[in-house]
Amino acid sequence: MGSFHYNFDLGGLCKTQLILCMILYFVFIVFSNQYHNCPSSNFFSSFWKTAPADISISSSTVVSPTISAVSKSPTISTVSNDSSTISNESRTISTIPNESPTNLSHLVIGLVGSESAWHHRKAYIESWWRPNITRGFLFLDKEPTAELLPWSRASPPYRISDDLTAFLDKPDLTAQRIIHGIMEVFREDHENLRWLVMGDDDSIFFLDNIVDILQKFDHTKYYYLGGHSEFIFSNYWFSFSQGFGGAGFMLSAPLAKALAKEMENCLRRYAHLEAADQTTMSCIADIGVALTPLQGFHQMDMRGDASGFLSSHPQFPLLSLHHFDMLEPIFPSMDRAASTRHLMKAAKFDQPRMLQQTVCHHRQRNWTFSISWGYSAHIYERIMPRSYLQYPIETFETWLPSPTPPHYMFNTRMPSNDSCEAPHLFFFKSIKKTPKNEIFTSFSRAWPRGLLACSPTGNNSAEIITKISVLSPATKRTKIDRCECCDVYRVHGSKAYVKIRECVTNEMIT
Ligand SMILES: *[C@@H]1O[C@H](CO)[C@@H](O)[C@H](O)[C@H]1NC(C)=O
Ligand SMILES: *[C@@H]1O[C@H](CO)[C@@H](O)[C@H](O)[C@H]1NC(C)=O
Ligand SMILES: *[C@@H]1O[C@H](CO)[C@@H](O)[C@H](O)[C@H]1NC(C)=O
Ligand SMILES: *[C@@H]1O[C@H](CO)[C@@H](O)[C@H](O)[C@H]1NC(C)=O
Ligand SMILES: *[C@@H]1O[C@H](CO)[C@@H](O)[C@H](O)[C@H]1NC(C)=O
Ligand SMILES: *[C@@H]1O[C@H](CO)[C@@H](O)[C@H](O)[C@H]1NC(C)=O
Ligand SMILES: *[C@@H]1O[C@H](CO)[C@@H](O)[C@H](O)[C@H]1NC(C)=O
Repeated sequence: MGSFHYNFDLGGLCKTQLILCMILYFVFIVFSNQYHNCPSSNFFSSFWKTAPADISISSSTVVSPTISAVSKSPTISTVSNDSSTISNESRTISTIPNESPTNLSHLVIGLVGSESAWHHRKAYIESWWRPNITRGFLFLDKEPTAELLPWSRASPPYRISDDLTAFLDKPDLTAQRIIHGIMEVFREDHENLRWLVMGDDDSIFFLDNIVDILQKFDHTKYYYLGGHSEFIFSNYWFSFSQGFGGAGFMLSAPLAKALAKEMENCLRRYAHLEAADQTTMSCIADIGVALTPLQGFHQMDMRGDASGFLSSHPQFPLLSLHHFDMLEPIFPSMDRAASTRHLMKAAKFDQPRMLQQTVCHHRQRNWTFSISWGYSAHIYERIMPRSYLQYPIETFETWLPSPTPPHYMFNTRMPSNDSCEAPHLFFFKSIKKTPKNEIFTSFSRAWPRGLLACSPTGNNSAEIITKISVLSPATKRTKIDRCECCDVYRVHGSKAYVKIRECVTNEMIT
């Protein structure tokens, strides 16, 4: 779980420490840039050793050399058998003989939270939790106060975390409580368990996509699935080998069992570590299991406006979103809780397509449409290739001050006031099923772009468009070996109509 983000709730003291640490970090960066010959690592590591747990820079995902190298075998893209290049390894991963396909009933979810934060965070969890269907528990630090009682039926059932003071002599046991939660949820419920899923009390999970992904893995083998941080330095400081727990990580049953059994030894052995996810990774590494990074987990280690990131999602099923408390609401003119529920409205219709980016062109007007399914739609006033639009617009800021790039685990585009570069922005408004068994999603303009048209003749402005309607098939898309394509089939007055379809052979999106 995410060590830090979690601790943000623990009060003003921690915030002060956080700010202090940010300042120290900034000083460190300045110094280390100025004195290249001065080995900074000693200072830095001792700094981290003495730092309180909450400095932590928590963290989740996306395209890194590590990810693409590792994910070649076990991800969905290689599971199809239409390729002679499938390795022996991926074949063993994709086929599980004599077992029914994994479904939601095989997952047990452990969420570790705090009583004080639950008052507002329950809205996030209740947006995706399916009462009496999702198995799992919320672990609180103390009994809920009267305001939370009677306990909401839409919430996961709660448990109070074990008291660890008896066997660990440490002033702050928050990280250890989070890690110990793995054992506690396993102890609580492990009948027919195939996968143990751990998350924070503000982690938003996309359960159908998670189940689809887990079907590709053999739950009888040892697997540790998770995501990197978006913020490069979080991975560097903590570990490129860890799954960032706010985004969530998943342990196959044999690994969960081994880790639960080893838990107390593990906590003692790594009592000097402050960060929960790093400790968990260390224990798992000692069992002999390495992280399989998945690009759908999102720690959301960024600040401010995440819309650029969510509008150019990696070509991988969306599994989780974290840090909603740290970001601005993801929909303009909605608060965080309402934004979460709004996003889940789309997810209820079609999880595999959530945030999948589809690009098409309207040649007569030189417009490019980029749809992030269920979330946003952009219109650019020139023809742009998909290769370019796949990079998120850097609407967001770094998780911690980071004076020089690289900041992120992916490339970005900078926001621009150039009318040929800046998109018109539309956000998800409503969704319904049509009588012709299609999904009809409507996106409405966020605000006027306020720039001249891109075309020198001035006649290709998209300013008049206020609404984009997107039709997509109601059929479940099971393979994401290739993105979908689309057609702008009508532009009429203030409305544009786009239809999503499979790309045809040899189609180029450029
Ligand atoms: C995949 O394997 C199945 C069963 O062996 C076979 O029926 C099918 O044609 C194969 N698909 C492709 C695309 O080769
Ligand atoms: C798979 O592994 C077996 C034994 O290790 C080997 O004999 C076989 O040639 C391999 N097949 C492929 C397609 O690499
Ligand atoms: C999930 O799989 C089990 C078999 O392992 C089966 O009994 C159960 O009906 C399935 N549940 C759903 C909702 O499909
Ligand atoms: C869940 O199950 C319990 C006991 O079977 C029942 O009392 C409760 O109403 C159910 N809750 C929901 C939301 O269906
Ligand atoms: C579209 O772009 C082409 C090439 O840049 C240009 O010749 C044409 O005039 C543009 N059309 C409009 C409507 O802007
Ligand atoms: C674009 O223009 C607005 C208003 O003039 C300004 O606030 C903003 O900083 C500009 N953005 C960029 C990326 O130049
Ligand atoms: C815009 O102007 C160009 C050049 O005059 C012309 O070729 C094009 O058809 C016009 N487009 C529209 C949508 O009116």
